[in-house]
Parts: sequence; C-alpha cells; structure tokens
Amino acid sequence: MEFRRLGKTDVYLPALGLGTWEIGGRDYPDYSRDEEAIEVIRYAVRRGLKLIDTAEMYGAGHCEELVGEAVRELPREKVFIATKVWPYNLRFKDVFEALDRSLDRLRVNYVDLYQIHFPNPFIPLRETMKAMEKLVDEGKVRFIGVSNFNVKELEEAMGYLSKYDIVSNQVLYNPLDRLIEEEILPFCRKNGITIIAYRPLGKGALLKSSYKSVLEELGRRYGRTPAQILINWVIRHDNVIAIAKTMRKDHLDELLGGMGWRMDPEDYEKLPELLSRASRL
Ligand SMILES: NC(=O)c1ccc[n+]([C@@H]2O[C@H](COP(=O)([O-])OP(=O)(O)OC[C@H]3O[C@@H](n4cnc5c(N)ncnc54)[C@H](OP(=O)(O)O)[C@@H]3O)[C@@H](O)[C@H]2O)c1
Repeated sequence: MEFRRLGKTDVYLPALGLGTWEIGGRDYPDYSRDEEAIEVIRYAVRRGLKLIDTAEMYGAGHCEELVGEAVRELPREKVFIATKVWPYNLRFKDVFEALDRSLDRLRVNYVDLYQIHFPNPFIPLRETMKAMEKLVDEGKVRFIGVSNFNVKELEEAMGYLSKYDIVSNQVLYNPLDRLIEEEILPFCRKNGITIIAYRPLGKGALLKSSYKSVLEELGRRYGRTPAQILINWVIRHDNVIAIAKTMRKDHLDELLGGMGWRMDPEDYEKLPELLSRASRL
C-alpha cells in the first residue's frame, strides 16, 4: 500500500480510493445490483482502501445509501467518507440542508470530506465557503474539499476561508486527460492541496481495443496489467490519489496492484503519446 498526505493535515490515505458513480449498475438505478455494490464497498474497506468517494447526485442519493449500508457495522474510523454537494445547493442555507440529507443517507453523523462538486457562477462562492467552515465547526464535516475547480476558482475559494484549508481538489486525470498538468497540479502542490484524480481508467474505455494493446505491451516490462499501469501512471505524483470505480472484487484486487512500485521515468513520459497514437489508428 502506498499513502498520500491529505492536504496539510495529519491524515494519510492510500493512494487509491473507491469511486461509487454508477456503482449500482450502468442502467442506474438498477436495484438488483445493490447487494453486489454493498459487497464490493465492504471488500474495498477490508482490503484497506479507506477513501470511499460518493456524491448526493450519484443515483439521486442512492449511492450514498449503498455506502451507508456497506459501512454501517464498521468502526467509523475504518473508513474515510468523501461526498459532494451539487452546484444547485451552494447557497448558505442549502449547503446545511444538503449535508443533513447526505448524513441521513450515509447513516453517519459526520463526513470526512465534503466537496463542492462543481463551481456555480450564479451563487456567490463566499456563501458556500462560509457554510463549509461552519459545518466543520459543528463537527459534521472534518475537511473541506472542492471538485472541478480551476486555479482562479481555487484562489477565490481559499480567500473566503479564515479558519480551515481546502485539503483537496477532485479533478479528471488520466494519460489522455492531462489538462490539470498545466496549472492545477503545480498550484495544488505549491499550496498543499491533494489532487483526487477521477476517471483514472477513462471510465473503462482505456482498457479496451487499441489502448489495451499499448498498455499490455508496457505492462509486460513490469509484470503488470493495463489497469495497474494506468493507476500507477496517475499516482506517480506525490500529491495525487486516484479514485477508480469497480463493481468487481477481482478488478479491485487488480487495481490494488497499481500501487507500491514505479516505472522508469521515460515510460511515464511516453505513455500518453503512445495512447493518443493508438486512438488515431
Ligand atoms: N468529481 C467529478 O465530477 C467526478 C466525475 C466522474 C467521476 N468521479 C468519481 O471518480 C470515480 C471513478 O471514475 P469513473 O467511475 O468515471 O471511471 P473509472 O474509475 O476510470 O472507470 C470505471 C470503469 O472501469 C472498469 N474497471 C475498473 N477496474 C477494472 C479492471 N481492473 N479491469 C477492467 N475494467 C475495470 C469498471 O467496470 P467494473 O465495475 O466492471 O469493474 C468501470 O466500468 C467515480 O466513480 C466517481 O466517484 C467524479
């Protein structure tokens, strides 16, 4: 297991966490797969993956219910629950109500990380950040995070906080989606903000067709599978945690093998080019 410090806190999390978007199945909500989803979340925690990422928006709240059911009998500190508030709910009062609904669905009395899912230009960010601080004061939220924020939005949000830091920014990152490398990644490193990288497997698309053969070839050099190469590529930075979603225990076992080893620097360097060339074939 490989760990990352969360922001400037004394919390260290595994460099891989479990995502829960569509965890109940592709044709969401597909309640017939609830038991499977609950099982895989429990299994992830047993295997030491502390960070479970969800959102009030996922499955219209149902994913939070699944997470709540999965962790119900676990000691609360065994799991690090990260959820998100949807952009419609960013008014001061709405943030409190949204969190209370999330807490009910999750059946916990606090979340570890509360993230603004996307910025909303129609709601003053000051209101939202003040609400986030108050939620920490009330003990309902341990840490404040954001998601899909650019540098300007991060700076603005940081400026409205007087007591606590933003510990994380959850953003899209994989070898074919590298936008964050220009500004967001260096800014977050400089300011002690952890990047939580979503969609490290390109929603599964990077494990298919021509991409797969590129990853397999590279994987042979290290005795690793395509999914492990992708996770490893994303977490090569010391301030990045990857969150991947899976409904399968064998896939989860495989993803765990993406941690704890390194490729040669030139292989990290050349992978995006090899994959984008494959996409043009
Ligand atoms: N903040 C945001 O705006 C935002 C946006 C998107 C996603 N997210 C978060 O990030 C998480 C991850 O992103 P994502 O779910 O979009 O995509 P992802 O994790 O890149 O890919 C998930 C897909 O990969 C498959 N997969 C996983 N492990 C595999 C393996 N070892 N071999 C083969 N296939 C494998 C899964 O299928 P199986 O279930 O069959 O394994 C699933 O179809 C989400 O669940 C969510 O929590 C956040």
